[in-house]
Amino acid sequence: MAILVTGGAGFIGSNFVLDWLTHEQQPVVVLDKLTYAGNPENLKSIHQDPRFTFVRGDIADRALTSRLLAEHSIQAVVNFAAESHVDRSILGPGEFIQTNVVGTFELLEAVRAYWGGLDASARDAFRFLHVSTDEVYGSLDADAPAFTETHRYEPNSPYSASKAASDHLVRAYHHTYGVPVLTTNCSNNYGPYHFPEKLIPLMILNALAGKPLPVYGDGKNVRDWLYVTDHCSAIRRVLAAGKPGHVYNVGGNNEMTNLEVVQTLCTMLDALRPLPAGRSYWEQVTFVKDRPGHDRRYAIDASLLERELGWKPAETFESGIRKTVAWYLANPQWVEGVVSGNYREWVARQYGS
Ligand code: NAD
Ligand code: DAU
Repeated sequence: MAILVTGGAGFIGSNFVLDWLTHEQQPVVVLDKLTYAGNPENLKSIHQDPRFTFVRGDIADRALTSRLLAEHSIQAVVNFAAESHVDRSILGPGEFIQTNVVGTFELLEAVRAYWGGLDASARDAFRFLHVSTDEVYGSLDADAPAFTETHRYEPNSPYSASKAASDHLVRAYHHTYGVPVLTTNCSNNYGPYHFPEKLIPLMILNALAGKPLPVYGDGKNVRDWLYVTDHCSAIRRVLAAGKPGHVYNVGGNNEMTNLEVVQTLCTMLDALRPLPAGRSYWEQVTFVKDRPGHDRRYAIDASLLERELGWKPAETFESGIRKTVAWYLANPQWVEGVVSGNYREWVARQYGS
């Protein structure tokens, strides 16, 4: 019996697959459409592992997912597949509705039919884990308590609205049909294989390339950063011991403003790759037009996960960001590979020439 990981060639999905094969015995089938964000290079180190199967395809292709579920006797689905970048959702929401809403619906339908046909013990053991985001809860005031699992949904971007819709579908498939689902809502991840359209890898690579470091608005928006392997261990824990139908928030307890994050990266790079004449990468910071509808603050209360399932992050921001910067410096070939024509076109649209 295997697990099916959708979106397993993306940032978190590929980290999860590598982490899974290190810690668990069960084989993994990755289903990924390989959009601009999916990169088979992320999984290169396990290509020879007999427990690993890769299938290129769309979660919205119900015939394909039905076949994969049956052929591989899938015992759990972990659904990472999504369009994930807020700025892209603002420029073009259509793909977000298609994959995040319609795709999740089609996948749930395939799972419902497959799960309904299993024998009683396999039905009990089956899990559908939906990987979601803290952004569905909206934006917090500076002094508001962190998001708990019962915080009301107030998504503000087409991305977060599409994720919220998918969360509601997942919930409904449990409530109505009894499908044993689990949902995790996680804060901002960072670490290896992070596509350089997102804040941390963009700042590292722009700094090294001598380009501007584009900070939106006043740079005081707050995010709660979690090192990606901590997210992976949380998902493994929820899959193993989470209660079907329940929601678990995952977070790093690392609230920082964007300016603090950029400052940390610049200080680290100043030490690791010093610029001539004592100059600092900080001089490359450029304040640019704010993101429309930019959420001011996210913060996750992950105490339920700690209390019920004994999960805690292993990395602090200091240790995680050090590993991340070291990884980008040590992997110029990966960076070169992702900086494709498609990516350059996106950068030109988003930031101008
Ligand atoms: P990503 O954009 O790096 O990867 C998404 C992957 O999904 C890519 O490999 C892409 O090819 C694949 N994909 C897209 N559409 C598909 C489709 N229709 N069928 C099959 N595959 C498809 O995203 P990520 O940052 O790794 O995020 C993964 C999941 O985690 C998403 O659901 C996201 O909402 C959620 N999440 C992300 C963060 C974060 O900080 N990155 C935090 C919380 C939750
Ligand atoms: O909170 C979880 C979410 O985190 C995930 O659900 C999303 O998939 C993921 O992309 C991430 O969303 P954010 O919008 O928070 O991440 P991003 O890296 O795009 O931006 C982080 C912050 O940095 C945000 O306040 C916007 C700001 N920013 C971002 C970019 C790309 C800048 O100031 N400049 C930039 O160039």
